[in-house]
Amino acid sequence: MDSIIVTGNGPLNGQIPIAGAKNACLTLMPATLLSEEPLTLTNAPRLSDIKTMSALLQSLGAEVSALQDGQVLAMSSHDLNNHTAHYDIVRKMRASNLVLGPMLARLGQAIVSLPGGCAIGARPMDLHIEALEALGAEIELKDGYLHAKAPRGLKGATHELRFASVGATENTVMAATLAKGTTVLKNAAREPEIVDLVRCLRAMGAQIDGEGTSTITIQGVDRLHGATHPVVTDRIELGTYMIAPAIAGGEVECLGGKMELVESFAAKLDEAGISVTETDKGLKVARRNGRVKAVNVTTEVFPGFPTDLQAQMMALMCTAEGTSVLEETIFENRFMHAPELTRMGAQIEVHGGTATVTGVERLKGAPVMATDLRASVSLILAGLAAEGETRVSRVYHLDRGYEHVVRKLEGVGAKIERIKDE
Ligand code: UD1
Repeated sequence: MDSIIVTGNGPLNGQIPIAGAKNACLTLMPATLLSEEPLTLTNAPRLSDIKTMSALLQSLGAEVSALQDGQVLAMSSHDLNNHTAHYDIVRKMRASNLVLGPMLARLGQAIVSLPGGCAIGARPMDLHIEALEALGAEIELKDGYLHAKAPRGLKGATHELRFASVGATENTVMAATLAKGTTVLKNAAREPEIVDLVRCLRAMGAQIDGEGTSTITIQGVDRLHGATHPVVTDRIELGTYMIAPAIAGGEVECLGGKMELVESFAAKLDEAGISVTETDKGLKVARRNGRVKAVNVTTEVFPGFPTDLQAQMMALMCTAEGTSVLEETIFENRFMHAPELTRMGAQIEVHGGTATVTGVERLKGAPVMATDLRASVSLILAGLAAEGETRVSRVYHLDRGYEHVVRKLEGVGAKIERIKDE
């Protein structure tokens, strides 16, 4: 297990390239299961979660080749020979459940392990199940596995999700592309990753309307064909690196960033006194003088403030002037970074889903431990603004979602290195 050592050394300046979105790629990859013809993704991020999804697809009989240093994923599901997604892989990553809808639609059957509890909450699959049942699937839970079948194929239907779940929307839209007739999915999630998935499915011949709104209409077709699709920019990686100059000072241009991906987040940075401007290459973020102002944040489904940027925003608020209240409404246990930030001198009180942060002038470096993907990067961000050395251990969480984090931050002047633990 490796550690990352960060030493706060003043303002950051320069450019950081933003990769393709992990969460988009993890839903685009299972879309290969819908067609006998090849699907190629470009602008793919180089992450361990992508390797996990590749292994899962390969276990189902798909071919997955990572080309051009992993930035191109060439996939073919011509010869699927297995319809069971085993616990061994699914337990590593909840997004494994995104093979359920496509397998059911293409093969008429799927056995998928339940993901089980994960560090940031219970994360059940009831919404996925209800939506797929509305399309005519029969689903039973046996020995920790969902056994789903649709022997006569799926049938289009109108269904309203009880909550605008990202994963349930993705699974349902993918399944509905090959269903007979029309599916109308109401209260659908509107995240940019869903818009990206729909664009890819459309390139494969699917007939879909309404992506990016809360009603998505899918007209089922008999078959989908091959396509090549570029993965959308990672708005969470983008937001994470936007915090770097905000917390450490300086000016950083995030290459490939677009305002439409991070509107509500950028509005909060603006309220905190950080300038964000769109350039022809990306988004430029600057904190030139003075401390950041405290702002209140409530996580919401898109286009609201993303839960995946809450930990990073908390790190920023730890050094703000005043008191901020951060409310987490998407996941029930997503403040595990708070005690670690406290070890660095932050003043945070957590009550249920609310964290109250009273900013301090300067954080102090300390040994801290990463507990999940976004928590781990929040500790690195805090380290950029801390006095002395911060050693973040268990960084394998980070490798799930951030490629070349050391190289990217070093490139803008941060003092950061990765070391092998003995
Ligand atoms: C996706 C993202 C994740 C992000 C989350 C919310 C991927 C691979 N992951 O996760 O990074 O934090 O969206 O933006 O895209 N829920 C249920 N029943 C269900 C499904 C979900 O109760 O059947 C609950 C979950 O427990 C959670 C909430 O709904 O509390 C949000 O989950 P969901 O939108 O489904 O997130 P994911 O797709 O898992």
